[in-house]
Amino acid sequence: MKEAELNRIRADFPNLGCQVHGHPLAYLDNAATTMKPRQVIEAITNHYRAETANVHRGLHHLSVLATKKYEGAREKVVRFINAGSEQEIIFTRGTTEAINLAASSYGGHLLKPGDEILVSQMEHHSNIVPWQLVCQSRGLRLKVIPMDESGQLRLDRFRELLTERVRLVALVYTSNALGTINPVEQIIEEAHGMGAVVLLDAAQTIAHLEVDVQELDCDFLAFSGHKMFGPTGIGVLYGKENLLEQMPPYQGGGEMISQVTFAKTTYNALPYKFEAGTPPIAQAIGLGAAIDYIESIGFAQISEHEELLRVHASAQLARIPGLRIIGTAARKAAICAFSLEEIHPHDLGTFLDQRGIAVRTGHHCAQPVLDFFGLPATTRASFSVYNSLQEVDLLAAAIEEARSFFL
Ligand code: ALA
Repeated sequence: MKEAELNRIRADFPNLGCQVHGHPLAYLDNAATTMKPRQVIEAITNHYRAETANVHRGLHHLSVLATKKYEGAREKVVRFINAGSEQEIIFTRGTTEAINLAASSYGGHLLKPGDEILVSQMEHHSNIVPWQLVCQSRGLRLKVIPMDESGQLRLDRFRELLTERVRLVALVYTSNALGTINPVEQIIEEAHGMGAVVLLDAAQTIAHLEVDVQELDCDFLAFSGHKMFGPTGIGVLYGKENLLEQMPPYQGGGEMISQVTFAKTTYNALPYKFEAGTPPIAQAIGLGAAIDYIESIGFAQISEHEELLRVHASAQLARIPGLRIIGTAARKAAICAFSLEEIHPHDLGTFLDQRGIAVRTGHHCAQPVLDFFGLPATTRASFSVYNSLQEVDLLAAAIEEARSFFL
């Protein structure tokens, strides 16, 4: 990307211009959450400043307007991931709630005791624990696809585990702890061959690669707004309409009903059957603006720039003595996790923060990954389209400085 274009993108993100401990911020914690462009901030502010109303409930001007914008956001999501229709897009609080919805409603009602669910060893806790809960309550069995030392899925083991007892595969598309991009197309095809449905956790993919649910043929897809330049408190569960139709409601309340009597309640049509209560209206509008923003840059440019950052960061970090990159899969996103001799990641993270560099340290809500590598924690730099090669250099120089300081 040309420098002028990068500067133009950076100028859209007011928070990128801040100072931290007297240094310009180098924000390298994009896998945790991305910064928000002014277009998103303005869309949310405008809703609260000039267009506040509840949706689907009023005939008055502002309610009609809010409904139009809220449903307009849903239409943008349909187009963005190439879903079949608005019926297939459920707004949730985030990826976590989207997976919990699928686990509780699909896993809890359409799977039977003895059925098996496959997850991988590199899942985020939010794609492990909801399935454990439903396994406990429904007598299902959870099985784990192992990975190798590079952080790639063991496809040989996947094939052994994939028997006719497996009814659902819940898999992360891009690992937040390793950066691995999984061969989801292949896994979906093979799982379907055995009659299993597939849920993809696309939280770390959605802002980085074009996702086409019809081309992938996934059955469910979950993602969050806040990792794609949108607000917190909004996410999406995409589900194939025929599956969502068979699934019972996840929560009860207003909006999800058709008719309520004390004798019997009937439920609303999709997607409202799964959206009980006042929905996250401003957040959905913000998510719509985030989609517009991503489309204004385009995935071709995003992928090209992030790949440049990934290659540069991997090379710079690999040169640092004692630094071990955790996650060296052949196909990787711009996420670089590492350990540095006996320096504790929390010490390193604090040291980097003192220089204005924001990274994440810890287990990244993926404790099984850290257990596999025998580490209590890693330091993770994760990049977005607005990061620069200079920020990568700053990170590498600050890690070298930390080495001299701590060792
Ligand atoms: N899942 C987010 C991360 O990886 C919060 O940081």
